[in-house]
This record gives sequence, structure tokens and C-alpha cells, in this order.
Amino acid sequence: MLETRKLTVAPPPPATLQPNVFPLDWPAGGSITHDLFELAKRESWDPARLPWEQIKDYKLSKEERLGIGYWFSLLGIFDAAAPPVFAHALIEMYKHHEEDGVRKCFSTIFRDELNHEEICRFATQSCLPGAPLGPLRWEPKTILEKAAYSNIQWGYYNGGRYWDGYVAAHGKYPLEVLFTSFLMGEVAATTLFAEMAKEAKLPLFRQVFHNVSKDESRHARMALYLCQRTFPTMSPEHKAFVTRQLRAGFIFLSMILFKPFPGKFWELPDGFMDNHMILQEAALSAGLGLVSMKKREEAWKNAMLKVKATMDKFGIEFPAMPEVGLSGAEVPEGGIEDGLIPVF
Ligand SMILES: [Fe+2]
Ligand SMILES: [Fe+2]
Repeated sequence: MLETRKLTVAPPPPATLQPNVFPLDWPAGGSITHDLFELAKRESWDPARLPWEQIKDYKLSKEERLGIGYWFSLLGIFDAAAPPVFAHALIEMYKHHEEDGVRKCFSTIFRDELNHEEICRFATQSCLPGAPLGPLRWEPKTILEKAAYSNIQWGYYNGGRYWDGYVAAHGKYPLEVLFTSFLMGEVAATTLFAEMAKEAKLPLFRQVFHNVSKDESRHARMALYLCQRTFPTMSPEHKAFVTRQLRAGFIFLSMILFKPFPGKFWELPDGFMDNHMILQEAALSAGLGLVSMKKREEAWKNAMLKVKATMDKFGIEFPAMPEVGLSGAEVPEGGIEDGLIPVF
């Protein structure tokens, strides 16, 4: 028998100030979000279990190995930034009582991106000469190694300018607005990595790109959900912001998924492009699966047409992308300093 005479109902405590990182609620949303969360659990994979030891048996020249190490160093500039980007977004989502399913999905995107970063770690450790601690912590000796090192340094410098802009953008725009434009990065990444999985001659990297592409396609579905939820009630000002974000996303991601367009977001020294092309050729000849510029252009164009269809449906202008032959709204070239934060 409970001793009810001793029970007391105290007056409620002071209200918890909001936003607060403790939500203690599970706001409902579209069932697709929990479906994607379950799918992410079923599709989880472990980069450490891939056969990295195969790399030393592949018959590759020093230059080809360097080309692979270089390419994954550049990818790492994007993929090593992704876990903190999504971790930061996740904290904001908890603070602002975002739908439970969306929060859960973002936690899996964070986890996936950690895997993608791991891929970059294993690949660079195996292919850059003496770089167990990272692509900036080795001593280049040959002229090709020095060219690779210099390009990695410049890529890193540019990537490093992104973080403050990203954090500041959280104060300027609602989270759901910020993340609508990650649809394009995800769709482009899905397409490009799927192409690379088909083209790669080396079995290890075929598997790598296949796994990454599968993750990115899940991210794209999450991004699409956020767009469809957010766009119908979006203000004209935020719609214009999305248009600019799409353009900034293309320019930012082009470095790795297409080719860098210097003078826009990317501040690159003379010679960067030549080094970049030569090192990519070495990676291509190794069988990494880099697709030709022509195919990249087509893949981007197709990815953008898919995204454009969603934008058209909700009356959001798609920016002109002359680099892949798409006309559209002319937007001022902007960058992270304007709060434009592409992610993928
Ligand atoms: Fe990724
Ligand atoms: Fe992604």
C-alpha cells in the first residue's frame, strides 16, 4: 500500500528558458523521417572492414598512388568538415524542438559523414607517402609531391574560411531554410559517386563509392523532405536566399565533384589548376574511377534538373548555371561571407 499521506504536489518550477538544448519531447512529423532513420540503421557499414590492405598489392606507379592520395585529401577537406557541420545543426535542432524524425535522420547523416571522413583517412594514409597524421602533415620531396602538397594547402585554406560563415548563418536564417539547399549537394553527390562506382577499376574503390553514393541518396531524400515541408510557406526573402544558396553550393562543391571555378568562391594561386588536372590524370590512370569532365558536366546537369523541378514546383527561381549550360536567374556571386553555406 502506498503511503499517500506523505505525497506533495509542489508548485511548478520556473519556466525553462527557450531555446534550450533539452527538448524532452518528440515532435511528430512525416513518417518518411522515421523510415529513413530505420533505413540508415539497416544500411550502416564500417569503413574499417573494407579491404584496405589490397592497396599495396595494386600495381600502381608512385605517381598514380599520389594521385589517389591527392584526390582523397581534397575530398577530406569537404568530408572532414561534414561531421562538425551536422553536429552543430543537430544541436540547433534539439534546441529548437525540430521534429523527432528529422533530428534522428541528422544524427545518421552525422554518422555517415564520419564514415566518409574515415574513407579519406584510410585512403590518404595508404597513398600519400608518410602521411599517417593527415594530408598536411608529411614532407613532399618530388616536384609532383610538392605540387600536390601546395594544392592541398590551398584547398584547406579555402575550406577553413567556411566554418565561421556557417556558424554565423545559424543566427541569420532558420535552420530549415539553411538546409533546404543541401538538396542540390546531396543529389549531385549521389549521382557523381554512383558514376565513380561504375567507372572505378580498383575493387576497393568501387565498393567505397557504391557505399558513399547509397548514403548520399538517403541524405537527398531527407533534404527533399525538408524542402517540401518548408517551401510552401517560405517568404520571398528566404526564397531568394535559397536561389543564391544553390548557386553557391554548385561553386563550392565543384572543386571536388566537377572542377574548381577560380575567382568565385575559390581563391587559388597560379598553377593550381594545372597541378590539379595532372594529379587527377594520375588518379584516373590508377583506376580510381574519376569520370571525364564531359560526364561530370552531364551528371551535374542532370542532378540540377532534378533539383530545378522541385524548385519550379514551389516557385523558387533556379540560378543560371552557365558552366553546365543551364539558364536561369542571375544572382550576385556571393559566398560564405554572405551566410551562404553549401553542404553535402
Ligand atoms: Fe558525404
Ligand atoms: Fe551527404
